[in-house]
Amino acid sequence: MRAADIPDDISQVLLTEEQIQDKLAELAARVAADYAGKDLLLVGVLKGAVMVMADFARHLPMHMEMDWMAVSSYGTGTRSSGVVQIRKDLDTDLHGRHVLIVEDIIDSGLTLSWLLENFASRGAESIEILALLRKPDAMKVELDCRYVGFDIPNDFVIGYGLDYAERYRNLRDVAVLAPHVYS
Ligand code: PRP
Repeated sequence: MRAADIPDDISQVLLTEEQIQDKLAELAARVAADYAGKDLLLVGVLKGAVMVMADFARHLPMHMEMDWMAVSSYGTGTRSSGVVQIRKDLDTDLHGRHVLIVEDIIDSGLTLSWLLENFASRGAESIEILALLRKPDAMKVELDCRYVGFDIPNDFVIGYGLDYAERYRNLRDVAVLAPHVYS
């Protein structure tokens, strides 16, 4: 689905499919240089990271393994608690592995902050983060993210994996959701 298919739902296209793909290719070249000669494990965080993972992995000019986690905020129903529940754990033993966590977006940073600690406790040799999007104005914790695609404003964004009520994940672009959709 393209932004032009749902013009009434969108107030602004933030990133086009082409801009996203160019950035992922650039990040893949950096990652390939940084991990030359190493066994790389990409860990995608479901569900939002599915599109980033699929395209980034295919831009990567080297071997890699892929695994997935599904997490959700515990109890309160808001992810700002920072307490995370594992809904689907990894199949891979992280001991001694070079892990690159692949995310669609860093919002408060709490999910990734929790994941970093969790992965470190499993004995990973190295852990880095790749996020297509980051909202600097929404971050609540310091987070060292080595590979960032785009810093974006603190708006409600959808598309390219990002949803509102489970819709819009299949939008090829990243767009700002029109306020009438959620208000
Ligand atoms: C989104 C996104 C990150 C997290 C970032 O996932 O994919 O995992 O929120 O937010 P944070 O930086 O404030 O922790 P979400 O919980 O919406 O689930 P989804 O990927 O299944 O849509």
